[in-house]
Amino acid sequence: MIFALLSLLAPSYILVDGRGLALAATARSFSPFRPWPKDSAKYSATAAALESSKAFEGSSDYVHMKYHMGPVLSPKMHVYIVWYGAWDASDKAIIKDFLLSISTHKLEAPSVAKWWRTVRLYTDQTGHNITDSVIIGAEHDAHYSHGHSLTRMSVQQVLKSALAENNGSLPVNSHGGLYLLLSSEDVLMQEFCRAVCGFHYFTFPSIVGYTLPYAWVGNSGKQCPEVCAYPFAIPSYMPHTQPMKPPNANRGVDGMISVIGHELAEMSSNPLINAWYAGTDPTAPTEIADLCEGMYGTGAGGGYTGSVLTDDKGASYNLNGIHGRKYLVQWVWSPVLSACFGPNAQD
Ligand SMILES: *[C@@H]1O[C@H](CO)[C@@H](O)[C@H](O)[C@H]1NC(C)=O
Ligand SMILES: *[C@@H]1O[C@H](CO)[C@@H](O)[C@H](O)[C@H]1NC(C)=O
Repeated sequence: MIFALLSLLAPSYILVDGRGLALAATARSFSPFRPWPKDSAKYSATAAALESSKAFEGSSDYVHMKYHMGPVLSPKMHVYIVWYGAWDASDKAIIKDFLLSISTHKLEAPSVAKWWRTVRLYTDQTGHNITDSVIIGAEHDAHYSHGHSLTRMSVQQVLKSALAENNGSLPVNSHGGLYLLLSSEDVLMQEFCRAVCGFHYFTFPSIVGYTLPYAWVGNSGKQCPEVCAYPFAIPSYMPHTQPMKPPNANRGVDGMISVIGHELAEMSSNPLINAWYAGTDPTAPTEIADLCEGMYGTGAGGGYTGSVLTDDKGASYNLNGIHGRKYLVQWVWSPVLSACFGPNAQD
């Protein structure tokens, strides 16, 4: 649920799971990779999971991605964006084009829309699949309404004040609405870099007035690109690995794209934290993108991104989007293959 480390977080706030990685043993033997330095608190928290993940490789253990009877996002998806901090139009366009690419089916393969097809394989008990229809419902410029430093709780206050009924500009939409709070590179967030690059949850009626699925993703371009914009920046403990060139020439925003993809996939398959996740503990679910962090192509695992494409400027990508854009986005767990998968997979 979170793009990053969990056990450091108060369980009452967030659902995270390092332990889920230990379950990630499949016939295809992918090992999820997270670029935490070996000496960091984050690494030690995940090291056990990563190591046990290796230990399971090739064994007969499987990930049990289970359905827990709650809804998935089957109505047409309306994404409501809260731009927090300082955003310029060109940065916004990279992100909006990515969102709109999900439902644009005529793109050259491998496309963002084909990547979403794996997410679409998840259904709820009514038999409805996750939607492949995405529109940007409305946008709200929050500027620095709640200061330069956010917390998990103040995020809900920001969302509250972004609603039209509180003088913001976003409608309340509990029928396909997903609220995306995106913070610029100068905004601090509790646990950002140390434990999270993004997370999703739902708002509390006691704070916001409604239960609405939302995600926060921060621009890590200045704060910790080697953690949250990996592989466009590389941690110092990996001296022999070269950073990849970002496809939109914007390390921070290109890094956000994969995290946004991760959170959208999970918000759609587990919007109220009662639908699709692995593990038995709903306060620490392992969701469909958690299992595939750091995997962008065939052969991925153990710090290798897998085989990706290179454009004529030498930038790395694995998906085509609208307006000729290219993106590098992590794979997601396929319930059909019981493996991480993306449309750039090779036989
Ligand atoms: C809906 O999900 C089911 C179960 O995974 C799958 O067989 C079917 O192909 C999906 N439909 C679409 C349109 O993706
Ligand atoms: C919205 O703005 C109006 C006019 O400035 C003000 O009277 C009202 O209290 C505001 N409402 C909220 C919820 O902030």
